[in-house]
Amino acid sequence: MDKFAIRGGIPLRGSIPISGSKNSSLPILAATLLTRERCLLHRVPDLSDIRTMLDILRYLGAEVSFSDGTVVVDARKIAGEAPYDLVRRMRASVCVLGPLLARCGRTKVSLPGGCVIGDRPIDLHLRGLEALGSRITLSKGYVVAETSGLVGARISLQGPHGSTVLGTDNVMMAACLARGTTLIEHAASEPEVCDLATFLRSMGARIRGEGTGCLEIEGVDQLHGAEHTVVSDRIEAGTFAVAAAITRGDILLEEAPVKHMESTLCALREAGVSLETEKNSLRVHATDPLRSFQLRTSTYPGFPTDMQAQFCALAATVPGRSEIADDVFPNRFMHISELKRMGASAGLSANRTVIHGVARLSGAPVMASDLRASAALVLAGLQAENTTIVHRVYHIDRGYERIDAKLRAVGADIERQR
Ligand code: EPZ
Repeated sequence: MDKFAIRGGIPLRGSIPISGSKNSSLPILAATLLTRERCLLHRVPDLSDIRTMLDILRYLGAEVSFSDGTVVVDARKIAGEAPYDLVRRMRASVCVLGPLLARCGRTKVSLPGGCVIGDRPIDLHLRGLEALGSRITLSKGYVVAETSGLVGARISLQGPHGSTVLGTDNVMMAACLARGTTLIEHAASEPEVCDLATFLRSMGARIRGEGTGCLEIEGVDQLHGAEHTVVSDRIEAGTFAVAAAITRGDILLEEAPVKHMESTLCALREAGVSLETEKNSLRVHATDPLRSFQLRTSTYPGFPTDMQAQFCALAATVPGRSEIADDVFPNRFMHISELKRMGASAGLSANRTVIHGVARLSGAPVMASDLRASAALVLAGLQAENTTIVHRVYHIDRGYERIDAKLRAVGADIERQR
């Protein structure tokens, strides 16, 4: 298994190109199942999660090609079953449920199971699809959904931790081919949900209200092929912004989706980081001393849970007492124990961590556990003295395109070792 060797202490300087969004690409790839015609998608990042989704589309019978960031999908003939050994690799594959149900009238998709960031239920997805007129049964770890024809309905996707991103995607995609109008209240407003709505509209779907928390979808008989360019990845951009801050460097993030990053930029400013937004790029620079900060994650436009681990790494290096709580995934703190092995002073209670910054972290062998926790360990290694070895970097390769090459290009001493 690959690992990263990082020698920290170098202020990063230069430019980093931001890739297309993973969390936008995945549901949009699932949406290509809604039409028999060809779809072209541009700026799709080359990640293992993307390749898993392409494998699922191929397994379902679609013809798929992927080169230089462009994916071509032809889902003329598809079957309706997504097997366990593909779905278990990536929870996001649950978002083929809505398209397959709408397209085929019957589907069988493995339950995604949990993961290290916490329980990952799909009760809201299933409640929404049942409201559209499908019969859902759970059997031997699979969801079996069938319908004699989806019918528009009024649905609420309010869950205990706010709305559901992929649940909104699933219900919105299914509603596109339902008879009549669907109203989704407490819909997720994330930019990736809005990007999916834009793609669906380009396929002929009739959707209004994305980004407002309330979606109105007027069903149509069929959708046609379309071409789409995926939005930039706000979490990748946020991660590299923290890399500039934690190394007290100066980085220009090219094609950063600044308008989708307001809460992350607010948090950086609170920590004393300097930001300059130019057209569609973002300059991030930081000098000592930075300031401690308080953060609480929530659904968009609140502070993203996918940036929580990265800010824990930053907090470990700024003087004073920082406090970070996660209201979306209360157990998403696997990175804290590994940061403590690097000398961080951090305590955990319920869904909150209190971190007292230290002048310098110490390099150590650490274990990646999930995508964003792994990114946090890389960030900590960039600041730590001596060498940090991050094991199991396959977690990082799921969601960051060539992260080691992009960091080396701005001066980081990071090497991928087999
Ligand atoms: C999406 O996951 C993202 N993944 C996650 O990013 C992100 O952390 C999450 O949204 C929250 O923003 C993709 O877009 C592929 P949710 P999703 O359903 O849709 C609860 C990353 O690092 N819930 O919005 O699966 C759930 O337990 C990944 O890129 C229910 O209770 O997340 C959680 O507490 C990690 N019932 C909260 O809602 C449901 O039916 C938000 O989950 C569904 C969710």
